[in-house]
Amino acid sequence: MSIERRSEMLYLDNGATSYPKPEAVIESYAKYLREVGASPSRGGYETAIIAGRKVFETRMNISKLFGSSNPERIIFTKNATEALNLAIFGILSDGDSVVTTRMEHNAVIRPLMQLEREGKIKIHWAKLTDRGRLDIEHLFELISSNKVKLVITTGMANVTGVVVPFWEIGKFCRERDILYLVDGAQLAGSYPVNVEEDFIDLLAFTGHKSLYGVPGTGGLYIGDRAEKHIKPLIWGGTGGYSELPDMPDLIPDKYEAGTPNTPGIVALGEGVRWLLEKGVESIHLHKKELLRIVLDGLKKIDGVNLFGPDDDVDRSSTIPFTIDDIKPQKIAQLLWNRYKIAIRAGLHCAPHIHQDLGAPDGTARLSFGAFNTKEDAEYAIAAVEEIAKEQK
Ligand code: ALA
Repeated sequence: MSIERRSEMLYLDNGATSYPKPEAVIESYAKYLREVGASPSRGGYETAIIAGRKVFETRMNISKLFGSSNPERIIFTKNATEALNLAIFGILSDGDSVVTTRMEHNAVIRPLMQLEREGKIKIHWAKLTDRGRLDIEHLFELISSNKVKLVITTGMANVTGVVVPFWEIGKFCRERDILYLVDGAQLAGSYPVNVEEDFIDLLAFTGHKSLYGVPGTGGLYIGDRAEKHIKPLIWGGTGGYSELPDMPDLIPDKYEAGTPNTPGIVALGEGVRWLLEKGVESIHLHKKELLRIVLDGLKKIDGVNLFGPDDDVDRSSTIPFTIDDIKPQKIAQLLWNRYKIAIRAGLHCAPHIHQDLGAPDGTARLSFGAFNTKEDAEYAIAAVEEIAKEQK
């Protein structure tokens, strides 16, 4: 007997972007455009002042979420990719060595490989264990045996939801006076992070995933040790100090040339406010519960292959899998066409981890968000089971 199919979409692609968004996020975006509409720090009239204040409020909320004692250290960018480019191209120069991992997203891989192709830097890649955790001993060995300028790791793998022990890596780097950059695209809002206690010098984040904001927003936390080394990615107007021929030497202005995405930043502030009210820890526990249900359910299905660690220690509810003899894209198509389940399939912009996990052609990925329920998890399992059974 086939399962009862839903007529409403079940969105399980929160690794790509979170959906739905909290109502306050949507409302604040529209309200800003309708009632304020001015450019922040670029006028002395009331709405321009309100705009500046609202941008600062978002900076404060994000700063609080990440444990930074100075909101000005939060630099807004258009996404995590731009933030990572700012950090990577801003810090590295000729002759530098970098240690990173085989777990990274193309937002880290491609800028680094560009610098390596230009003959400027040397990249050292830390291995993964067979179930897709970071081999931290190998990472430490690479750091110890090379003269390293910067260590870059994801905080949470976008393919498996595995949390990298960034607090241990941060401590190790700080003791050796090496800068540490965390790609927090998946981590931010999904798992507790404290830049000061965890010794993180740079944390790149996006607004539209687990901070529940809108696309076109993101940023980079720049700690004081990193600030000395990092040049801007974009030069231009900052609203003040217009007489200077160079960017003003103060944060955040130095790194924020051009008119920002003010409605997006305002809406992001609401997303973070919502998150702070719910608590990152409690959302993480909820997602871990969903992870457990899905891992247990999928494990029992003949022909289904799971990738990533089997336990739910330090892992979020991002679950890559394949079904024997069906291409990942076909799985995604069947889930959508028959069951109205939206997922992503392929390499998820992370080719190395797929090679290392033994899925070089990619995986189908279920990624749950704060709004998903146990019923959603059960429905997804039942749908995958039906597809797998048909193959037999
Ligand atoms: N990096 C995002 C993902 O994993 C887009 O889907």
